[in-house]
Amino acid sequence: MEDLLSVADLDPDALRRLLDLADELRSDRRQRHELTGRTVALIFEKPSTRTRVSFQVAVAELGGHPLPLSAQELQLGRGETLADTGVVLSRYVHAIVLRTFGQDRLEQLAAAAAVPVVNALSDSEHPCQALADLQTVRTECGTLEGVTLAYVGDGNNVAHSLLLAGGLARMQVRIGHPSGYAPDTHVVEQARALGATVVVTEDARAAVQGADAVYTDVWASMGQEAEAEQRRRTFAPYRVDATLMRAAAPGAIFLHCLPAHRGEEVTDEVLDGPASRVLDQAENRLHVQKALLLTLLGGA
Ligand code: CP
Ligand code: NVA
Repeated sequence: MEDLLSVADLDPDALRRLLDLADELRSDRRQRHELTGRTVALIFEKPSTRTRVSFQVAVAELGGHPLPLSAQELQLGRGETLADTGVVLSRYVHAIVLRTFGQDRLEQLAAAAAVPVVNALSDSEHPCQALADLQTVRTECGTLEGVTLAYVGDGNNVAHSLLLAGGLARMQVRIGHPSGYAPDTHVVEQARALGATVVVTEDARAAVQGADAVYTDVWASMGQEAEAEQRRRTFAPYRVDATLMRAAAPGAIFLHCLPAHRGEEVTDEVLDGPASRVLDQAENRLHVQKALLLTLLGGA
């Protein structure tokens, strides 16, 4: 693996090795030195709390130098292309992490850059999130194969990466979405081809029935703010509340990539309740991204 632009850049073995290493790094968070003398640029074209901080801490804990950059501070903000930015940055830094809009922007950067490129969220995918989510599910369920994960809400970037990761891990992934908000059919087919059992339904309760994990995300993603009001109306029946959680398997966990819009896609009772593992997910971003950096930069 040279870059991580999509979960599909991994294979089942690479996924297992990453999660094993992430577990090891979680159990021993002592300072490491594999990235001494190396710099990782972190470019954000959209806001971020977890991704920004977890990547900065990850690089620092591996002995490297994190370089967070906002697109507006770079000449990117004045129209320099991502390709030109990528070739120049490759003369200074050892990896580039990018949060952006279209997946094509990541592809342009990766094609031009001489160093590994990591997708820190695009409109199509959020692979680092899915890796942390699978680490969380594996810790809770002891395995991934055959585990049922029900994602309720928008068939968005987070849903896409979960589908693909579920494919690599041979999970059952169910998507319960309002009409018009299904995940991309190409991604669903790709997930099936990788090994997932996929159910896509407009019935939230059917999606959640007997599931081991229930996952949701915001109804309007970054860049969709203008649609937020209309989406609030359309998505209201898809809110994850205690009643919906009761349809899941006994002991089922609740997951959310965060940030949450409390009272919209999830009630406080569920988000803050005993089934919630959202803080473990957020923490696992750190461990799994350390594992990813060690793998990409040759310290694993
Ligand atoms: N889950 C996630 O990526 O959070 P941020 O947008 O805060 O980075
Ligand atoms: N789907 C959300 C995820 C945020 C981490 C978004 O793209 O805004």
